Amino acid sequence: MIKSVRGTRDLLPPDTALWNFVEAEARDVFRLYNFREIRTPIFEQTELFARSVGEETDIVSKEMYTWEDGIEPAELDLLPAWIAKHRDELKGFEIEISPEGKIGPIRPDLSLRSGSTLISLETKSRASLETVRQLARYGAELEASGSRDVRLYLLVPTGRATESVYRASREANVIIEELDVEIPQSLTLRPEATAGIVRAYIEHDLNRTGLLQRLYLIGPMFRRERPQKGRYRQFFQIDAEVIGPPTAGSESPSVDAELLEMLAKFLERIGITGWTLELNSVGCANDRPKFNEALRAALAKDIDKMCEDCRRRAVTNPLRVLDCKVPEDQPIIEKLPRMLDYLDESCRQHFQAVQDLLAAVSVPYVINARLVRGLDYYTRTAFEFTHGALGAQNAILGGGRYDGLSESLGGPKAPGIGFAIGEDRLVLALSKTAEEVSAPPDAYIAPLGAGMNRKAAKLARELRRQGIVVELGDDSFRLKKSLESASKIGARYAVIVGENEVKAGSFALKNLATGEQVTVPRAELAGRMQSLRG
Ligand code: HAM
Repeated sequence: MIKSVRGTRDLLPPDTALWNFVEAEARDVFRLYNFREIRTPIFEQTELFARSVGEETDIVSKEMYTWEDGIEPAELDLLPAWIAKHRDELKGFEIEISPEGKIGPIRPDLSLRSGSTLISLETKSRASLETVRQLARYGAELEASGSRDVRLYLLVPTGRATESVYRASREANVIIEELDVEIPQSLTLRPEATAGIVRAYIEHDLNRTGLLQRLYLIGPMFRRERPQKGRYRQFFQIDAEVIGPPTAGSESPSVDAELLEMLAKFLERIGITGWTLELNSVGCANDRPKFNEALRAALAKDIDKMCEDCRRRAVTNPLRVLDCKVPEDQPIIEKLPRMLDYLDESCRQHFQAVQDLLAAVSVPYVINARLVRGLDYYTRTAFEFTHGALGAQNAILGGGRYDGLSESLGGPKAPGIGFAIGEDRLVLALSKTAEEVSAPPDAYIAPLGAGMNRKAAKLARELRRQGIVVELGDDSFRLKKSLESASKIGARYAVIVGENEVKAGSFALKNLATGEQVTVPRAELAGRMQSLRG
């Protein structure tokens, strides 16, 4: 039997009703705060995550699903692209392909014109200095043997010639042509949503609007983590971001507080209580170097006792040492300096303002000075909501500011803040049951007697048009079986469609909870069922 892949799972009814409930409430609450939906692709160029989430994070260094997409173009694939590009100039020319499969000179058809241009084409999937030199030597030989007007072309896929190759080719009179043929690229299934959203923000020039963009995205994310309860390799996030130019107020602490208040409201709406908001500030580009220096200094004496990752990170990105989960390293990590003690004046004031605003809107929080989050793009406010019922994987959501992310991806200055809720964990923490959040079908239609399927289908169509949720039975079932099926699917009523009923235009409507049965005229069926809905 073929099973689902380790770390992935099927979500089946009735549980999917819980997921629909959570997503519908999220959309409702987000709308009240004027968020709009964005959908980005589930795979992106690997470089996007390497540059935003960070090379030294666990996510990028260990957990991404990455592959080389596409195959190297065969060298000969470049020729059709070149011919297409030069179609007009090539009228009347013949192309010679040598027996070794090499593209030979393209010569004018001598019967049409008397020998003018001699074009030599070389195709390579990557351009090297050596190819340029070979081509130049060949050109010299042709000229020495009397050919006039020799043109040398090196055809390569776009992006496959370096600056030094271009320089050499200019000296050797070799024309390099970059052609638009597909070349392999490294792609990655998104491990998180923020990078893709900021990429889209830049690509579509949303900064131009001059407004804050309040965006949300619901969808699957992928990380190759060790699966356990609440931790999967494909999991779902409900992500929201507020991003915009500073002139739109994107750096304001009130955006941070509003987002946290929205989260508190959302959790309250879906009935999750007993959460803790853990809050920290991880500083900004201004104070980070001082903190990194302090971390390195503090680590110097103990680093030899730490794990391999920590030893490397102490040099490359010391903040990531604070993420280490190796138990033996924890006593050392406990004693390391705290970012909060290194905040510059503006970061300190920003953090204070966020706290004051949270107090004003009555959102409780605790400061966790050890909270660094597992992604590199964070600046200033960082937070997680944890929940006791979840065991080891207790973070139902996490987020923070990323004031420099857009610029680090080559975009405009566009500070932002956001969060992602782990939907799988949120559903685990719900106390509601699938039954509580899903409505049972209104009616089971029981066709009674051979040939009654058509009449039943017609009635079902009428009732559905009036908003009644109907499941249709089959005229091969006996009444007993139909009524049993109706009860099993949880229908509130059974409607019996027999020959007599159709003739009379009135149907037996059986309340499956009470067993009570009444005869109701066709036109009144829907109204009767609606009026008695719970
Ligand atoms: P994150 O903390 O990596 O942040 O993930 C957010 C949430 O996704 C976690 O708190 C957790 O509930 C859930 N989650 C993460 N990994 C797994 C997993 N393997 N299985 C199940 N649930 C998981 C981010 O992803 C950031 N992009 C959040 C953000 C948005 N920051 C700013 N904007």
